[in-house]
Amino acid sequence: MALADSDRLFGPADDVPIALDAGAWLLPGWAAGQAQRWVGCVQEVLAQAPWRTMRTPGGLPMSVAMSHCGRWGWVSDASGYAYSATDPHSGRPWPAMPEWLWEQARAAATVAGYPHFAPDSCLINRYVAGAKMSLHRDADESDTRAPIVSISLGLAATFLWGGLERSDRVRRMQLEHGDVLVWGGATRLAYHGISPLKDAVHPLLGSERWNLTFRMAKAPYGCSP
Ligand code: SIN
Ligand code: FE2
Repeated sequence: MALADSDRLFGPADDVPIALDAGAWLLPGWAAGQAQRWVGCVQEVLAQAPWRTMRTPGGLPMSVAMSHCGRWGWVSDASGYAYSATDPHSGRPWPAMPEWLWEQARAAATVAGYPHFAPDSCLINRYVAGAKMSLHRDADESDTRAPIVSISLGLAATFLWGGLERSDRVRRMQLEHGDVLVWGGATRLAYHGISPLKDAVHPLLGSERWNLTFRMAKAPYGCSP
């Protein structure tokens, strides 16, 4: 993410991943061509599990609204962070992950060199102006050999990419509509976050940014279905 804008303008073709760090790749605009389909799948999920705001274990409401699909949904409340098989709002299992989403996430992981990715969890984040995600690690999954696959849709955001220690230097890069990030291996547990979203209007999502984060929450990596 020492990427200057000029690297992106004159970088490799869209289907060629750009190395960001050990094990971490940017697939610029990879999801943009089928953005409408991504949005349709998210709307299908939202019809069953609408946006909600969770609280941190400290009791503060998060600025990012969330939904989930797949077998496991990431939840946060006073007792901490965990993966839950049921939506605490409805008491029902999370909506199934649309097959097309599963296939796309798997394809993106494969491009980045992780051919056995079989996500059992998809967190959907919604940012509006001012919403942010503080620096954190995705560390609640049982097998960290599996990478994280993260899709950006709608308004651009500033992504923060740190190191394995919270105190490590943080690099910043712009994530655009359709960009995909895949990180695993040596940087699977790297700190990352999103700066407060700037107010703007996107042709497809208006004043919002959506992020889909695919993970293997409980399944072991390497037992490819
Ligand atoms: C996250 O780390 O859960 C979200 C990252 C993003 O919104 O791009
Ligand atoms: Fe994260």
